[in-house]
Amino acid sequence: MEKYIIHGQKPLIGDVHISGSKNAAVAIIPAALLVAGKCRIENVPDIGDVKALMDILVNLGAEVEYEDENTLAINAENVNTYIATYEMVKSLRASYYIIGALLGRFGHAEVPFPGGCDFGYRPIDQHIKGFEALGAEVSIEHGIIKAKAERLTGASIYLDVVSVGATINLMLAAVKAEGVTVIENAAKEPHVVDVANFLNAMGANIRGAGTDVIKIKGVDRLNGGTTHSIIPDQIEAGTFMIAGAANGNCITVKNVIPKHMESLTAKLTEMGVKVEVIEDSIRVTGAGKILRANIKTLPYPGFPTDLHPQTAALLCLAGGTSIITEGIWDSRFQYVEELKRMGAAIKVEGRVAVIEGVKNLTGAPTKAIDLRAGAALVIASLLAKGKSEISNINYIDRGYENLEFKLKALGANIKRVSV
Ligand code: EPU
Repeated sequence: MEKYIIHGQKPLIGDVHISGSKNAAVAIIPAALLVAGKCRIENVPDIGDVKALMDILVNLGAEVEYEDENTLAINAENVNTYIATYEMVKSLRASYYIIGALLGRFGHAEVPFPGGCDFGYRPIDQHIKGFEALGAEVSIEHGIIKAKAERLTGASIYLDVVSVGATINLMLAAVKAEGVTVIENAAKEPHVVDVANFLNAMGANIRGAGTDVIKIKGVDRLNGGTTHSIIPDQIEAGTFMIAGAANGNCITVKNVIPKHMESLTAKLTEMGVKVEVIEDSIRVTGAGKILRANIKTLPYPGFPTDLHPQTAALLCLAGGTSIITEGIWDSRFQYVEELKRMGAAIKVEGRVAVIEGVKNLTGAPTKAIDLRAGAALVIASLLAKGKSEISNINYIDRGYENLEFKLKALGANIKRVSV
């Protein structure tokens, strides 16, 4: 077990290089199971969730090796099982992509229900509805999702809710189905587009990713030999932009796609923070006093739910009352009790948090409850007076590459210690 010790209120100044997108990587790595050949994936973030997925692929019989620190070579030629065990998938939400990938490759998948961060009910009914529309018989027995089809056939699928996971999983299952699949009310997140680009590079025929109608014309085979570079992580970039927004800080977030950051850029500007786009970098200069703001999280291009807790931490020091409405998850407010230990004044009612700006946060012992809640505590600790300790940082390691090294390079006083 490890924890962070942070002494707050040190100015954060300088450049930070953003790693590859976690949520693209955790879909693209399983997507490599679709082809009986080798693919190279560049700009893979070195994070816990990627390691967990690599283990799953190795256990299924794939060869997975690092060519360098951030380039993975995956050869799934020898994978000859469609069964994943509970031990393999229990810690990882994105293990649901193994279902779509194995179903797409073998017409058969048996995968236990996924694990992952707990912020309320996380159903996968839309994934299942889509697999069934493609002709799979799906049953749930003893906690295992079993999907089987003689032949997958293209279908028109309207998603009842905009779901990133269902959109990607249905692309994986449909790439080799017979005929045309249309996913309507599809998610438009940047990582959906990245996965489609990876599949197209292997010979798939997917059009419309990034809009709410995706058309997939099934192909007979996919080809190995592809190299794909993962897009920069929108949420890591946003986390550093939020860290840069405090008084006295000036952070240039490098290697980003500024278009992906527009909803955050607009909100930070509304809060009085200076945000400048310079090609593929964004410079954030902290505001003397953060102005209050209201936020509602929505599917892309709306404000991302995965930046909600970090933004809440910043708004704790705003002048006046801010309101955050969570539009995606039932229960994403578990970070609130931890921020209160640091002097935050937040009330939660249903899916709404009312944040009264306070003069100061003060360092305290806290616990990361999930990945982005952990990131929020890091931001709060950087803003707070004195010493904070954050335990359970294994959650943070699941999704942020070298967070403390990147923060230290900017001037933060942060240390990882073993407990
Ligand atoms: N939903 C359903 N039925 C489904 C699927 C989803 O009702 O079959 C609902 C969910 O309950 C939720 C909404 O639809 O209310 C959106 O869920 P979505 O399927 O989009 O979420 P996800 O694919 O499970 C991904 C990210 C999350 C991120 C959400 C929303 C990955 C591996 N995870 O989850 O990222 O919060 O999209 O953008 O891509 C994180 O990175 O910290 C993280 C949790």
